[in-house]
Amino acid sequence: MKLLDKKTEEKIESIISSLTLEQKIGQMNQSVAWAGTEEQYKERIRRGEVGTFIVGVPAYTGDRSAEHERRRFLNSLQKTAIEESPCGIPLLFGADVIHGYDLVYPIPLATAAAFDRDLTEKVYRNIAVECARDGLNWTFAPVLDLPHDPRWGRCVEDGGEDPYLNGQTGAAAVRGFQGDLGNASLIACCKHYIGYGAMEGGRDYHNSDISDYYMDNYYAPSFKMALDAGALTVMSSFNSVAGEPVTASKKLLRDLLKKRMDFEGFVISDYDAVKQLETQGVAADKRECARIAAEGGVDMEMVDTCYPKYLADLVRSGELDEEVINEAVRRVLRVKFAANLFENPYKEDYEIDKAEHAADALRVCSENVVLLKNNGVLPLSKDEQVFMAGPYLNEKHSHVGAWAGHYDVQTIPSFREAAESYLGEGGKVQFGGSPFGDFEVESMENCKAVVLFLGETLFSTGEAVSVDDLTLPEDQIALIHRMKKKGVPLVGVICCGRPRALGNVIDLFDAVIYGWHNGSYAAPAMMRVLYGDANPCGHLPMTLPRVTGQIPVYYNALSPARDVNEYYGRATSYYGTTAAPLYPFGYGLSYTAFEYSAPECDKTEISLSDLEKGKKLRIKVTVKNTGERDGKTVAQCYVRDLVGSMMRPVRQLVGYEKKNIRRGRTTSFTFDIGKEQLGFFGSDRTFRVEKGEFEIYVGECATTTNKITIKVI
Ligand code: GLC
Repeated sequence: MKLLDKKTEEKIESIISSLTLEQKIGQMNQSVAWAGTEEQYKERIRRGEVGTFIVGVPAYTGDRSAEHERRRFLNSLQKTAIEESPCGIPLLFGADVIHGYDLVYPIPLATAAAFDRDLTEKVYRNIAVECARDGLNWTFAPVLDLPHDPRWGRCVEDGGEDPYLNGQTGAAAVRGFQGDLGNASLIACCKHYIGYGAMEGGRDYHNSDISDYYMDNYYAPSFKMALDAGALTVMSSFNSVAGEPVTASKKLLRDLLKKRMDFEGFVISDYDAVKQLETQGVAADKRECARIAAEGGVDMEMVDTCYPKYLADLVRSGELDEEVINEAVRRVLRVKFAANLFENPYKEDYEIDKAEHAADALRVCSENVVLLKNNGVLPLSKDEQVFMAGPYLNEKHSHVGAWAGHYDVQTIPSFREAAESYLGEGGKVQFGGSPFGDFEVESMENCKAVVLFLGETLFSTGEAVSVDDLTLPEDQIALIHRMKKKGVPLVGVICCGRPRALGNVIDLFDAVIYGWHNGSYAAPAMMRVLYGDANPCGHLPMTLPRVTGQIPVYYNALSPARDVNEYYGRATSYYGTTAAPLYPFGYGLSYTAFEYSAPECDKTEISLSDLEKGKKLRIKVTVKNTGERDGKTVAQCYVRDLVGSMMRPVRQLVGYEKKNIRRGRTTSFTFDIGKEQLGFFGSDRTFRVEKGEFEIYVGECATTTNKITIKVI
């Protein structure tokens, strides 16, 4: 996809030809903007030694003068670059603005659970608007890792286990972040390319052994969708794939990303990932690290200084072709032109519609929580006595999740504070004492339900933090058992970042809502859901395992040779327990109910040649809201290729749409099925559709049996 016109490309070539070798390498060098003085930075900028700074995300002060100062500081560095550096090349200022800035939105995995492209785009548009006026022009997001192991702490940062949902969520985030690439925009950075979610044991920085087949059909598609949405940069990942560190892999960076995915932007390494090539045992020293990362296809080095120290010497000694440098600089300049930084290099202040942003945050938090179980105890009534307790009743910090940064924890309401404000003076609610304290049922006269707020600390999620046990903490399990003995309906609100294994407690609850690490508005939104002002409509973006020992367990697995159940492989894989997860990908209940008609199709056959011409089959279902209240359903469309030249997944998500349906009313959904939905990358790595029968499923989760069979002839 051509980023720039011919004229701009020619400008780039003339800049490259007028830079010295060291000045070119300066464009490949990212420095930290937290270890020096403004004048020291300016000196380096004047000498053309640095093309970008990584800027820490500051603690929130609420004091606009501090934020004005950040903009002044960054604009001042930019002015030096424009007016005093070689060729006046603008700087990039990057930071980890992953899922919030002034306001913390849900962790990305939780936003994916909303299954709503437009809402997702608006959330990330808001984040860019909140952040860009402080001077930043680049964010190291969205995360497109495909996690198959919820023990891994960074599964919370991405769009979940399915390539399509992951890619759609990432593409929406790219559109949101980049917007019109004007003043209130951030350049997006798709990370961590690639296979970071497949590391053995869910252990960070480790190895992923991924076949070409899985790379093409599972791990690459989400990056392709985000790049097709216009993402301008990519970050290479710490892990290795099939014996090669990604940060030195020509196969992954030059062949798969830049050639086959037609990526014209630039690749930045992850923090210190270039010098880590020595630790990974493919480079004898830092000089060698610089050579193989540059040759591998890393165009810009994040802070570890191997490039500025060694690249010029490698070129002059003939060990590195200068065209490698030219190509890297070409890509960096291409992004700076595409982001309009030459025309509009400075950030200006502007007003933010905070009420609108708050409303958006409340909405996404009301529409991404997943109702896992409900025997009718929910929604609660304001007229009935409720008891609220648990270790997360007063929690504030963990709502923000991993990689938040610029927030004031005092502005984040706890569940108790949200309940008090929601129910008002004299509200029919009592609160449990100490997190695990006991209390007598007598103190809960006429209590209609006990709501336990449980979960995991945000510090057990994020980078380099995996867990070896997905069950809830022992003290929380003991509390659940104690509360069950009170003989009052028990509601669980589970505030975790990653999927947890609830198999050992699920039967003790009358209702369970998965509340995620949902950001600043987690608690107010949860009150709206608990009391029915919002009808839950979140759906699982990752399979919820029954026990830790099932991992990896994901819905779009290949069919096993025996004992195939409807999904996830064999029905009896483990002695004494089932292979089936607790809840499947795409699962989520509502306070109402939806009836799906059998899928219909104008015709059930289509020829390969018609598919090649772009023709499609249109699958239609009608859905009736058979319950007593309005609600949103997420119609999900899955494909199964029954016989292929390679094994195909037992289900593959190819479409989804969320719609509100008034009670008693009916609406229809259509899904167009063509080459893109039916095809796959074969063993020769070409994309193709093969003749034969396909089952097309449409329903509310991956295990729907509502299907129609079509044939490619
Ligand atoms: C970290 C993370 C990456 C982040 C970068 C800069 O190690 O892996 O996601 O963007 O360093 O902070």
